[in-house]
Amino acid sequence: MKNSNIVELFQPAHTLIGNGSIGEIPRFMGSVGVKRALVVTDEGLVKLGTVKLVTDVLDNNNVPYVVYDKVEPNPSVRIVNEAYKAYKDSGADFLVAIGGGSPIDVAKAVSVLATNGGDIRDYEGVAKSQKPGAPIVAINTTAGTGSEVTRAYVVTDEEKKIKMVMVDNNCMAYLAIDDPSLMVGMPPALTAATGMDALTHAVEAFLSNAHTPFSDGAAIEAIRLVSKSLKRATHFGRDIQARTDMCWAEYLAGLAFSNSGLGLVHAIAHQLGGFYHTPHGVANAILLPFVMEYNAPYRTKRVARIGQAWFDAETEGVSDDESAKLAIEKIRTLSREIGIPYLCDTPFDMKDIPILAENALKDACAANNYVTATKQDIEDILMNAYVAGVVEKVKSAIEEENK
Ligand SMILES: [Fe+2]
Repeated sequence: MKNSNIVELFQPAHTLIGNGSIGEIPRFMGSVGVKRALVVTDEGLVKLGTVKLVTDVLDNNNVPYVVYDKVEPNPSVRIVNEAYKAYKDSGADFLVAIGGGSPIDVAKAVSVLATNGGDIRDYEGVAKSQKPGAPIVAINTTAGTGSEVTRAYVVTDEEKKIKMVMVDNNCMAYLAIDDPSLMVGMPPALTAATGMDALTHAVEAFLSNAHTPFSDGAAIEAIRLVSKSLKRATHFGRDIQARTDMCWAEYLAGLAFSNSGLGLVHAIAHQLGGFYHTPHGVANAILLPFVMEYNAPYRTKRVARIGQAWFDAETEGVSDDESAKLAIEKIRTLSREIGIPYLCDTPFDMKDIPILAENALKDACAANNYVTATKQDIEDILMNAYVAGVVEKVKSAIEEENK
């Protein structure tokens, strides 16, 4: 029986953060005794030359490997099976995942299958596998998802048309890498969206009903780093310091939410992704200030601390109420400055609000929101986000006309 006084923390066995980290891969993998890699990635990263930066390191250190580059966004059971076949056929004994969430998620699935066998559908849910998976080097190429940090992965069952969520200690990366040199070529819109995903992870972890001192420390520093550097990383992508700050922010935010859960922003954003394919980070960024406003009356001190953590925020002598308002306003301003669209600029349709709210209530992330939301609460959040966007657009059109 689990002792409820004891908190178990989850994190990768090893982590490297910083420019040139990928050069250290052979040193770590040599000590585990693995010999041959399956590189799991997508065609876009091959074309960009990102994969070659990593395979050059393997080549220079005589580490044999085979590349599987057919990972697609929202990876399916078919993709997992294909990658698993490539793993077995190649005689690989470890995985090198290069990408955002999708390639890393596929590598986690292959890792579990490699040592536990069976079908990936067998592992839906919490802690369903028995044995530690094959070692994974998880190389993150976007500063957002946190997949290199977490013990969760998502696979789409295309027959049942559902997303299966697996939470499993056995799929944790052996070596997680956040190397800013792989991120300098990320376009501004992707930098903005993934950075706001990281910010949302941190804010939701900090406001979660399952937060701990560990997740609090990681989350609040992640928030400070996003506030300091996301705008610069978006507009000056080659600024290695801004990219490094975002690597730290992303990693800390991933650690925080992996250990505390998320909240209503993700619960609703998942529905916008499912219905309209709204990019995950964009959906989070749009909803974040509105969910914070919803939570603030019940979590005033915590939302205020977010305001106090914000870079350059003058909060000395400011009340908690004011500091909480400042936090929400700073996040809204950042979204505008980095080009996050309004909800009314996305394919969102108001007539879907009831079904979106109903599904959001059932989403696993809703359970960690401090306030237990009703369907009406979620409908109101969506309506507020929609109307606020329309009002802002009208205001800017009038301002433009009066110039
Ligand atoms: Fe997220």
